[in-house]
Amino acid sequence: MALRTLASLGSLAGKRVIVRADLNVPLRDGIITDDGRVRATLPTLNALLNQGARVVVCSHLGRPEGAPDAKYSLEPVAQRLSELLGKPVAFARDTVGESAHDAADALDDGDIAVIENLRFNPGETAKDEGERRAFAQELAALGDALVSDGFGVVHRKQASVYELAELLPSAAGFLIEKEVDVLDRLTENPERPYTVVLGGSKVSDKLGVIEHLLPRVDKLLVGGGMMFTFLKAERHEVGKSLLEEDQLDTVRRYIATAKERGVELVLPVDAVVAASFSADAEHVVAAADALEDTAFGADGLGLDIGPETAALFAAAVRDSRTVFWNGPMGVFEMAVFAEGTRTVAKALTEVEGLSVVGGGDSAAAVRQLGFADDQFGHISTGGGASLEFLEGKKLPGLEVLGWQA
Ligand code: 3PG
Repeated sequence: MALRTLASLGSLAGKRVIVRADLNVPLRDGIITDDGRVRATLPTLNALLNQGARVVVCSHLGRPEGAPDAKYSLEPVAQRLSELLGKPVAFARDTVGESAHDAADALDDGDIAVIENLRFNPGETAKDEGERRAFAQELAALGDALVSDGFGVVHRKQASVYELAELLPSAAGFLIEKEVDVLDRLTENPERPYTVVLGGSKVSDKLGVIEHLLPRVDKLLVGGGMMFTFLKAERHEVGKSLLEEDQLDTVRRYIATAKERGVELVLPVDAVVAASFSADAEHVVAAADALEDTAFGADGLGLDIGPETAALFAAAVRDSRTVFWNGPMGVFEMAVFAEGTRTVAKALTEVEGLSVVGGGDSAAAVRQLGFADDQFGHISTGGGASLEFLEGKKLPGLEVLGWQA
């Protein structure tokens, strides 16, 4: 079944429309370091404002524990939104209290307000359905309709994502529509060769997606911190590099499955090994089967794929017609360990076909490394959500909008 789209809500002129966005952006000292998720909400917000809706935006930010916590306030995000929209954005200091009601009541046609972090309220993330429903009812009092557009959070069964969508007339916004359209193309008959590049620190976060994708892809490239568990599974020593010992058997099973199915599982042939985890650490390139044979011995720390691996991965990516990439290849935040991520990102920009960057870290990485969003087919705003979509899991925030995979 298809998603209910914005058009299904009819004219929203003069109506109070709650927009559930995912404005969970990275912040450093109160400054937004990647505003991609804020920019991604603009098409839906502009469409609503242009038709004279009165827009109440809500979102979570970080993981506060059900109570107000200044460091997770959405105020800087509301300011950024105002700059991007080029118009004032009112800000309510609570979520469903007096301030939120005052802000919603004060809206004129074509006006917009942001209410404070949904997760300052225990009901938003409550395990108990009744508690979530009670909070959703309070939220529902702020609007006549809900436009759900926070793709990054559709894998969470939370009050504003699920119960609220049942209580009010609801539909998906343009961002969710676009994300579903692109990710669906990765699961339904992707153009081949189809290559998936996985990185990031933890294998355990990616188990589901590896399992689901192995029978569906032509090549699976593994870099980032998780590569060391694969290398160790191949009986290479990895020094003090990231290692998930408890995943070794699972990883060995994946390696065997890939062989059986003829999937090319491409593991790094070299890595950048450093003396310590710091931007100015001494570092050298070592072969993947000799990571402990450097001057740092068993104390060496792998912090990036090596240049030979980067070239190998880039060639595999460029030769593909469909590529999905999730997770940086190394510690890209430190310039000396960013080369692997940069090389793979550059190769994605050269794909003749569909290239998709998924996940908060990969999206932040490509932007930090100076790539523009339009150099890629699509940059997903969802980390966990895009992975769970590709795993074929049921996503409550999409199902409630009529979507069935
Ligand atoms: C994300 O950053 O992946 C989404 O905003 C969801 O956040 P959460 O993992 O804290 O639910």
